[in-house]
Amino acid sequence: MPNPFYDRDIVSIRDFAKDDLEFVFDTTDSISRLKHSQRGELGKGRTLGYIFYEPSTRTRMSFEAAMASLGGSSIGISDLKSSSVEKGESLADTIRVIDLYSDVILLRHPLDGSSRFAAELSQNPIINAGSGSEEHPTQALLDLYTILKEKGKIDGLSVAIVGDLKYGRTVYSLLYGLANYKVEVHLVSPPTLRIRKESLYEIQDKLKIKEHSKLDEVLPETDVIYVTRIQRERFPDVQEYEKVKGTYTIDENTLAKSKSDIAVMHPLPRVDEISQSIDHTKNAIYFKQASYGKELRAALLALMLNENLSR
Ligand code: CP
Repeated sequence: MPNPFYDRDIVSIRDFAKDDLEFVFDTTDSISRLKHSQRGELGKGRTLGYIFYEPSTRTRMSFEAAMASLGGSSIGISDLKSSSVEKGESLADTIRVIDLYSDVILLRHPLDGSSRFAAELSQNPIINAGSGSEEHPTQALLDLYTILKEKGKIDGLSVAIVGDLKYGRTVYSLLYGLANYKVEVHLVSPPTLRIRKESLYEIQDKLKIKEHSKLDEVLPETDVIYVTRIQRERFPDVQEYEKVKGTYTIDENTLAKSKSDIAVMHPLPRVDEISQSIDHTKNAIYFKQASYGKELRAALLALMLNENLSR
């Protein structure tokens, strides 16, 4: 199978078929097994350029660490105040300039459609590091990879997605990714934070989806619980946020009502939706998930930069 990621934009996980997803998962396995010296050839002399219009810890740092592990380097802007965006430079001009200095561009921006827009302007491939409430495709790739590694399969699982389903962009990318598999999905949220129905049209026939507001009713059957933060920054009215914050907290009581091997995932950062008291349990795999992020992103960069890379 030819490398489907070579020189290609990663704007939406919807742009990739199941074979493509499995290609990146297999490559992640093989890259993780490579000797340091071999791995260090895959990005040698290449540059990742990034700009983050919104804060990030994991996405930016895991991409930087991934690029370094391939022998490449990273340059970028994470503090807009120290960039010419502060002087009024447009997104279009900013992308055109980063494109001059980089081989791959990583963009996080608060507007839906921002990465697609950037991809139309840029000669080099764009990676969407989070666009508004729309998508976060590399998060979904690492989420699916985590499920595969930790549960040994994706088909046949029951996945509960909990929290802010209206504004949480990781939720949409994950659902589009899960639509390639035979899974049962339970969407658990306060009524005001239900999934945006228009975003589900193309996948509603592929996934078995049920909506809930009570977490307890799904726990006994759930294999993977994917918890999300209530996205305070995306609420038009802070009073609406105050009404729903803290609706769900995953703690020892939650685990007691669940299957003994339930996997608790979270894209992080968490606020109060997962109690630190369960961090030590075998069920809590959210930091492992963040760790898989570096390996998966290294594989993705290697594939984007090396046409002849095979799994
Ligand atoms: N999961 C995630 O996107 O984390 P950051 O916002 O820290 O990048």
